Amino acid sequence: MSTAVVSFLTLLLVATVSTALTTFPSDIAALKAIKSSVNPTTIPSFTCLYSWDFTSDPCSPPHVTHFLCGLSCSGNRVTQLTLDPAGYVGTLSPLVSQLTQLITIDLSDNKFSGPIPNSLFFLPNLQTLMLGSNSFSGVIPPSISNLKSLQTLDISRNSLSGSLPKTLTSLTALTRLDLSFNKLTGPIPGLPKNIVQLALKGNSLYGYLLKQSFLGLAQLETVELSENSLTGTIPGWFFLIPSLQQVNLAKNSFTGVEIFKPIESNLIAVDLGFNRITGYPPANFSAYPFLSSLTLSYNKLRGRIPWEYGKKPTLSRLFLDGNYLIGLPPKEFFSGKTSISGNLGDNCLKSCPVSSGLCLKSQKPWPICQQAYRGKLKPKS
Ligand SMILES: *[C@@H]1O[C@H](CO)[C@@H](O)[C@H](O)[C@H]1NC(C)=O
Repeated sequence: MSTAVVSFLTLLLVATVSTALTTFPSDIAALKAIKSSVNPTTIPSFTCLYSWDFTSDPCSPPHVTHFLCGLSCSGNRVTQLTLDPAGYVGTLSPLVSQLTQLITIDLSDNKFSGPIPNSLFFLPNLQTLMLGSNSFSGVIPPSISNLKSLQTLDISRNSLSGSLPKTLTSLTALTRLDLSFNKLTGPIPGLPKNIVQLALKGNSLYGYLLKQSFLGLAQLETVELSENSLTGTIPGWFFLIPSLQQVNLAKNSFTGVEIFKPIESNLIAVDLGFNRITGYPPANFSAYPFLSSLTLSYNKLRGRIPWEYGKKPTLSRLFLDGNYLIGLPPKEFFSGKTSISGNLGDNCLKSCPVSSGLCLKSQKPWPICQQAYRGKLKPKS
């Protein structure tokens, strides 16, 4: 074989190998579009996007000077788009959907604005979508139900509006949903059945807590629905979800709470503060074997503090301040045997020893208490 033929064959071999390694052309086009949708003045030299220099190949190692971070590949396909929190200002190019092998998108803590491109909701392999702390606006489209592989969805701290799509139930792989601090409105729809962590706080959701929203949820551990406009009585079945551990329904407009005794429960912490809950503080809370933190602050509760609260060793934090509670608090709170912390102030309690940290905030003035009980309060009650 002549030297020329050998060189030619070598060249052919190199060309073949490098073709196999170079990034899929439509992935390159997508990456270019993603970079050019970001305002270049917000891409300083130390950032991932700055290192995206298309004179070299995105997926081909070594990444010594170019494509240092912000993406990763499997073979010649981009599988992760994970930008640094550099404060990039821009929009997300709809061509992102050409990255059909994407498993992870993380654009958290930047200043992306405009709508989330609808095409993104058709990525068949997407497992993690993190767009938190940006300025995305628009509605969450029903087509989100196409993300059959999605496990984590975090679009918290953006400007999403409209109501939650009814198709959320189709996201059967979803375990973590965080849409807190947006401008979402409407009722809570049916939730994905494998959800573990649900966070929708700081929106304008309204309506009742309905059984049909929570039907069949056997993994649900954390529920954050504080700072919304939810109403009605918090239903007893809700706290009976056996996997439930932490519940925050504070700062809504609930007017009542119903507590049933559980057969089995993992409930640890409940915050129902700053609602309009009337009635007595529910004694049945003491039947929850692991309950350690209970907050009922700033409601319209009346009557006595249930003696059962004093006989519950797991209870280590109790906030009942800002109600109209009367009588003597359970003596166990002050015996030194329990190490309970919290607040019983701003009530109508007869004797709350100022030596106890629980009673630092003073009780309501007598006329206000008397008015709340329509003059039926005896000075010694
Ligand atoms: C306490 O729980 C029991 C058993 O679940 C229930 O029958 C009862 O009505 C509850 N009490 C209150 C005041 O809700």
